[in-house]
Amino acid sequence: MRKKVSIVGAGNVGATAAHWIAAKELADVVLIDVVEGVPQGKALDLLQAMPIEKQDCSIVGTNDYADTANSDIVVITAGIPRKPGMSRDDLLNTNFNIMSDVVGKVVANSPNCILIIVSNPLDAMAQAAFKKSGFPRERVIGMAGVLDSARFRTFIAEELKVSVENVTAFVLGGHGDTMVPLSRYSTMAGIPITELIAPERLKELETRTANGGAEIVKHLKTGSAYYAPSAAAVEMVEAILKDKKKILPCAAYLQGEYGISGLYVGVPCKLGSKGLEQIIEIKLTAEEQAALQKSADSVKELCTVIGVA
Ligand code: NAI
Ligand code: 2OP
Repeated sequence: MRKKVSIVGAGNVGATAAHWIAAKELADVVLIDVVEGVPQGKALDLLQAMPIEKQDCSIVGTNDYADTANSDIVVITAGIPRKPGMSRDDLLNTNFNIMSDVVGKVVANSPNCILIIVSNPLDAMAQAAFKKSGFPRERVIGMAGVLDSARFRTFIAEELKVSVENVTAFVLGGHGDTMVPLSRYSTMAGIPITELIAPERLKELETRTANGGAEIVKHLKTGSAYYAPSAAAVEMVEAILKDKKKILPCAAYLQGEYGISGLYVGVPCKLGSKGLEQIIEIKLTAEEQAALQKSADSVKELCTVIGVA
């Protein structure tokens, strides 16, 4: 039997995530939204691409959570995206109300699923989903680090004029202006990039990474990035469905790791069939630890505002 992945929110990120899942033939997909007709139309359109792509997936669009029943994974992208001039934090109250409503319905229909949270502000929304679901931390994981590190990898590969496949990069912390790109642990074919790129230039690439979402919002004007975000969420889906034990930077509920407790923050995680299977702790310099703590503090502030700290 094929695995089942439901995606809540049939907008830019949700529909494009459905596209990646179907194109990789990872699972049957259910696309659900509050707006009537949109998930149905997008799902049918995508389904009709399957003979061309030579993939066998069922893709269903719906407004009824009964259709999501017994999903293996549910990816939550429901909410509003930001417009130029807005920060991710400006979405807080609206998306918190949406997240609370959605998680209740998802959990009632798929009590054993793994939740991958995408809606912003990401870390606070993951924390809200964790609290509302009552799931163990292994089954509620936030997507941000895969995207942020992919942006960093793109900029590093461009700078060094090498394949993106040769570049690994780490970004820790919350998905916001305080995120912590970790050049020291980023490499080209195993060589630390700190040995290949001058410190001032590296700083510029780190800053561009931290502002990566805003750079795209500025271009698009009516919404935010979705190709790379959806690909990032699907890399997490694939790691779980295929039990790959893949190390990816994800938002996870920390219980003392990195000196932080009771909070979702981006850290290196091992993803496999049980969801979050391990949090990898790496040694940080005092400066990196302070930057991570600052980032965690800003996540905590948001969680306090919506009462999930
Ligand atoms: P979008 O506006 O294209 O799609 C959002 C969809 O959610 C809409 O179709 C809307 O009808 C639906 N929706 C709203 N309330 C709902 C509810 N109660 N139940 C079900 N569906 C509901 O937005 P887009 O670009 O897809 O972004 C979605 C979210 O993901 C935003 O909050 C955005 O900021 C966030 N995001 C997070 C990223 C990350 O790295 N974590 C990256 C990119 C986007
Ligand atoms: C991004 O980083 C909007 O959080 C989203 O593109």
